[in-house]
Amino acid sequence: MTAPVNHHLILVTGAAGYVGSHCLVELLTSGYDVVALDNCINAVEGHLPDTLPESLQRVQSITGRNLLAYYKADLNNATELEDIFSKHRFSAVVHFASLKAVGESCIIPLEYYRNNVGGTMTLLDTMRAHSVRRLIFSSSATVYGTPEFLPITEEHHTGRNCTNPYGRTKYFIEEILKDLCASETDWSITSLRYFNPVGAHPSGMLMVKSMNAVKTEFLNEQHRNHWRRLQSSQQLDAVHYPGGSWKAAFPEGAWKRL
Ligand SMILES: NC(=O)c1ccc[n+]([C@@H]2O[C@H](COP(=O)([O-])OP(=O)(O)OC[C@H]3O[C@@H](n4cnc5c(N)ncnc54)[C@H](O)[C@@H]3O)[C@@H](O)[C@H]2O)c1
Repeated sequence: MTAPVNHHLILVTGAAGYVGSHCLVELLTSGYDVVALDNCINAVEGHLPDTLPESLQRVQSITGRNLLAYYKADLNNATELEDIFSKHRFSAVVHFASLKAVGESCIIPLEYYRNNVGGTMTLLDTMRAHSVRRLIFSSSATVYGTPEFLPITEEHHTGRNCTNPYGRTKYFIEEILKDLCASETDWSITSLRYFNPVGAHPSGMLMVKSMNAVKTEFLNEQHRNHWRRLQSSQQLDAVHYPGGSWKAAFPEGAWKRL
């Protein structure tokens, strides 16, 4: 028999990231149950096997509550998503998972479209298959592009002046969501178009930056392109730093807690 919908159970994608982990704090302290999903492409994994990513450990420590579950899963993997939705009856999804670096998106646009647009499509397909039709999508103010007037309001055009592939992934996803809501009226979807968020949790515990992110920032544009195609830091060291590790260039604090 299928379990009944838990009206307080939320799936959060990209949960181990910056905005996702802050959202988890709010959801848990507000009494929601949360299942967290992240592939850790831009999050610090737990140091020991089978432990939560660093940010999620800290979320639990801040709130004094445990996540119902954490899955290291990729949104583009339909089998993994199907497995998660088969185990839990979600009432809603908050969708943060995304690649988000504007400059990088100009260098590897296909990876951005596949990850952001493709991942969202897989998520939507799985949600529909399991009758989960409430979604909050973490869009971005980049959909407005170069402003036609200031301050920007929700009436401002979107898509027309987008200046980079990252912004266009958000714009295309918003258009897909609009088409979906127009064709199937039982969906309830909200897109949040925020600008760069400022500040962090007062504890200061949630500014955990991934080694991947620091590597990506550290490398110049040409090397970044290569880095995305590399599988491990060992390869990175071997290819770009034959004489020694890139880690030696940074004190630990510089890459773990920026
Ligand atoms: N931080 C900002 O300034 C800002 C502004 C506007 C919108 N946004 C949007 O908010 C969301 C969160 O941003 P953030 O700053 O927390 O970014 P972040 O990189 O810290 O978090 C995103 C998380 O998604 C995960 N992820 C990426 N692709 C995935 C995939 N295919 N499957 C599973 N997990 C995946 C990453 O590992 C990461 O932990 C993003 O969608 C971003 O575009 C961010």
